[in-house]
Amino acid sequence: MLSFKIVLPLIFSLTVLGRDLPDNFEKCKRDENFDKCLVEAVNKALVLLKDGNKEFGVPQLEPMTIKSLVVDSGNAPINLKQSLKNIKVNDLISSSKVVRYRYCRKKLMYIKFFIYTFFSNRTQLDKHLIICDSFSGKIEILGDYTMSGRILLLPITGSGKANLTLVNTKIEHRLIGEPYEQDGVKYMKLKDYKVSFDPKRVYIHFENLFNDKVLSETMNRFLNENWEIAFNELKIGYSKSFGKIFKEISNRIFTKVPFDQIFLSP
Ligand SMILES: *[C@@H]1O[C@H](CO)[C@@H](O)[C@H](O)[C@H]1NC(C)=O
Ligand SMILES: *[C@@H]1O[C@H](CO)[C@@H](O)[C@H](O)[C@H]1NC(C)=O
Repeated sequence: MLSFKIVLPLIFSLTVLGRDLPDNFEKCKRDENFDKCLVEAVNKALVLLKDGNKEFGVPQLEPMTIKSLVVDSGNAPINLKQSLKNIKVNDLISSSKVVRYRYCRKKLMYIKFFIYTFFSNRTQLDKHLIICDSFSGKIEILGDYTMSGRILLLPITGSGKANLTLVNTKIEHRLIGEPYEQDGVKYMKLKDYKVSFDPKRVYIHFENLFNDKVLSETMNRFLNENWEIAFNELKIGYSKSFGKIFKEISNRIFTKVPFDQIFLSP
């Protein structure tokens, strides 16, 4: 009787909890090669996850489909409301690479450590903070938009097909996690995922602005000539939306695999 009681929870915890990373994922030790190892491991993992992973509940990442996102410019004097529906994001994985994780070990890299600490701008696993830089050659965002308000101080309204294409984009990812325990095993869950886009060029096309072909073409030309300012007004909203999506996808893995099984101790 007694042994039965003890053994049963043990079997239960072994089979149900503490899943390992998906097949073919590589793991990295937190040693001096951690940054490089993680860059390679995550780039390979993203390719493996491209078509989704049923076991982990990861949806297809390319093309990525998003039901809807709402963009408020967030800038008080400029009032823009834009919603996108039936969104398809193309090329997000094939054209993207993680570049670095801004991780360094104290003993080995004094200068880097000092700089990153000073700006508190580095991956600190003990604080469950991961900062990563990636580069995307092309991100094509397609969807059905409706928009009203002002952009570049000009009134703008319309609805139709939208195409925002970001070219050669540096992206900074800040994964802010918090630890929790489940049956004595440590896991990490992301409470925030901040994304910031820094594209070299953005091509903007909103079909059917003002419900008028000529005005629409003129406005689109104007938006593209001033893409940097125009995109700046949309950027916060898009970053927030993508951050939320990336957070959810990352947590599908983080909440199933124990922390020390993702990031191996040296
Ligand atoms: C973090 O460092 C990068 C350069 O590595 C810099 O561009 C960025 O502004 C820094 N961010 C903060 C919040 O200090
Ligand atoms: C979206 O815009 C880009 C840049 O202008 C263009 O290359 C691409 O063909 C467009 N995509 C669609 C589906 O129209």
